Amino acid sequence: MRANDKAAARLKELGIELRQGISLADNTSLGIGGTTDEILLRQYETIPQVMRLLADEQIPYRFLGGGTNVLVADGELAWVVLHLPSARPGVRVEGNAAYVDASADLGGMVTFCAKNDLGGMEGLIGVPGSVGGALRMNAGAYGTQIGPHVREVELYRAASGKIETLSGAEIRFDYRHTSFAPDDVMLRVKLELPSKPFKDILAGIRVCNEKRRVSQPLNQKSAGCIFKNPPGGSAGRMIDELGLKGHRVGDAMVSDRHANFFVNVANASCSDMLKLIDDVRERVRVAYGMELENEVIFWRN
Ligand code: EPU
Repeated sequence: MRANDKAAARLKELGIELRQGISLADNTSLGIGGTTDEILLRQYETIPQVMRLLADEQIPYRFLGGGTNVLVADGELAWVVLHLPSARPGVRVEGNAAYVDASADLGGMVTFCAKNDLGGMEGLIGVPGSVGGALRMNAGAYGTQIGPHVREVELYRAASGKIETLSGAEIRFDYRHTSFAPDDVMLRVKLELPSKPFKDILAGIRVCNEKRRVSQPLNQKSAGCIFKNPPGGSAGRMIDELGLKGHRVGDAMVSDRHANFFVNVANASCSDMLKLIDDVRERVRVAYGMELENEVIFWRN
C-alpha cells in the first residue's frame, strides 16, 4: 500500500516522516515480508492526527514494534506500517519505578534497570523486541513475565481516538495474551521493580543467557517460538519427538536446536513458512490429538 499524494503532503505539513517502499523482510527478525510505506511517529502527540488522516483517506495500517514476533505476507502489502522509532535508553528510574518508552529495546531496558539496582526481570533479558511488543504480548521467559510489574500504561486507543492512561489493575495479563484491544498503541509504561544489587541481577542474567544460548538458535533468523505451549505441555518437545527437527519447506525450516523455533535459512517466503506451520500443526494433531495455536502473529495481506 502506498500513502496517496494527499496523505503524503499532509504528513509533510505535520512534519512526520514517510518512508516509501520499505521491505518488511529487512525490518523483521524472520527476514520475511513484502513492501509498503512506513510512517515514523516520533512525537506521540501527533498520533491522533495521523490516525484521523489514515481514516479519512481510507488507508489501512498495522503497527510495527520491534518486528520480532510477526510473520508478514509476501509481495506488495495492502496496508502501511506505523512505527515509533526506538528511544535510547528510553528509560527513567525514580525509586522503585521505571518509566519506559514503548519503543525502547526490551533487553536494553532490563540492563538499564539492573544498573540502577532494579531487578525482577532477569528472565526477559534475551527476549528480542521492544517494550511495547513485550507489553502487548505479555512476553515471558524463565519464570518472568512483564505483566506483574506493570503499574500504568499510556496508550493511544483507536476506540476513543485519544491518548489515555490505564492503571495496571485495569489490564489483564495472561499467558502471551493481554486485554489490550488489537488497535491499541502502547506508548509508555510505568513498571515497579524490586531493589536488588547490580551484581546479583547480573548473575541471574548470565544464567538465563546461558540457558538460552544452549537451547535456542540465536544466530538464525526466527520469530522465537512459533506455537504457544498447550496447557501442561510443550510444543517444542512434541515436535522434536515427531522427528521434525530440520524438516523444511523451501527455505523455512524447523530449527535443529529448538523444535518450536522455525528459522528462515536463506530466502524463505511467507508462503513457505505458512506451509511449514500448517504441516507441523497437522502432524501434531494427528499424533497427539492436540491443535497447536500460533504464538507468532501472522500479518496477512
Ligand atoms: N524440548 C525438547 N526439544 C526441543 C525443545 C524443547 O525436547 O526441541 C523440551 C526441553 O528439553 C524442555 C521442554 O521441552 O524439557 C521445554 O523447553 P524449553 O525450556 O526450551 O521451553 P519452551 O517451553 O519450549 C518457553 C517459551 C520460550 C521461552 C522458554 C524459556 C513458549 C511458547 N515458549 O519455551 O519463549 O524462551 O520457555 O522460558 O511459551 C517465545 O515466546 O517466543 C519463546 C521462545
